[in-house]
Amino acid sequence: MNIDGKAWRTIWLEEGGRSIGVIDQTQLPHHFTTRSIASLDGAAEAISTMVVRGAPLIGVTGAYGLMLALQADPSDGSLAAAFEQLNATRPTAVNLRWALERVRAKVAGLQPAERAEAAKAEAGAIAEEDVAMGASIGEHGLQVFQQLAAARPAERQGQPFNVLTHCNAGWLATVDWGTALAPIYKAHRAGLPIHVWVDETRPRNQGASLTAFELGREGVPHTVIVDNAGGHLMQHGQVDAVIVGTDRTTRTGDVCNKIGTYLKALAAHDNGVPFYVALPASTIDWTIGDGVAEIPIEARSAQEVTHIQGLISSGSAAGQLASVQLTPDGSAGFNPAFDVTPARLVSALITERGVAAASEEGLKGLYGNA
Ligand code: MRU
Repeated sequence: MNIDGKAWRTIWLEEGGRSIGVIDQTQLPHHFTTRSIASLDGAAEAISTMVVRGAPLIGVTGAYGLMLALQADPSDGSLAAAFEQLNATRPTAVNLRWALERVRAKVAGLQPAERAEAAKAEAGAIAEEDVAMGASIGEHGLQVFQQLAAARPAERQGQPFNVLTHCNAGWLATVDWGTALAPIYKAHRAGLPIHVWVDETRPRNQGASLTAFELGREGVPHTVIVDNAGGHLMQHGQVDAVIVGTDRTTRTGDVCNKIGTYLKALAAHDNGVPFYVALPASTIDWTIGDGVAEIPIEARSAQEVTHIQGLISSGSAAGQLASVQLTPDGSAGFNPAFDVTPARLVSALITERGVAAASEEGLKGLYGNA
């Protein structure tokens, strides 16, 4: 997608694969910088500190992390240790385990000398597939938006189609296109007048910093709102649809996504607003049936709650990023990073294979008995 007229992806090979380049998302939206990652430890650190984040991008970074580990040491022991180290960086998004298992399955039976090249090829394939899946999710979601827009009452025809989204499920969370934002980009490019309500998404503010950045660079009209505003907007007919991404979807259609998603689904249900979840196949965990009971929820540092990061806008430090404390000294913070929205609150799943009910039957209809 575009930044100042130049097309970017979130991850790329450097020096023929001796290192990988990524956009440093901890600096956005105020500073656009890139980083080189040349080791397994560097890849693991980039994932755990959220230099890269978003379920699909975490998976691709993990896959390239295995490649870097095998370049340094292609032995069985190195492969096993690297797999464990990367898999432990972030526990909720299942794409990470999925991508690591894919690379491991490709290389495990090879001679050690062949492994790094094979890992590079498989990680590259995962990245390319991710781009294609995002584009396809976008096309299917575009049709959903067009149908909803056309079904609005006569007096609302021609007005912007208002979509609310939570967290960042755009191209920065994937390799390109995104999941929940892909239909929005496709709709914008297709000429459907669209406007996006962007939940700020405390505590890390992926909406205010990343989704707003992306949409702005692509010229998509959007407005940032506090996380608590969505229900009010829905009560007043100002939201035509909600669309979010997911970090793990059970075979029964329960959806785990950024903390606060569940409350948006409840508000949408109460107000008759359709609630869509956009996902690639890599986000489905076929081993799990009950999302609330079985999906491990990452607990991140309480400091993400007690403090907030922003840009110093005046004085001698203007232009620098700073962290400021919000809470009194001594107040504890608790920071579960994700929650689970039960399938009954999800209007439909929008995937690269089409649109399905959020249910075992719906997912099997698209993917068979995967
Ligand atoms: O903690 P993050 O920023 O990695 O969380 C990201 C999300 O929750 C996204 O909505 C999710 O990964 C789906 S993105 C394609």
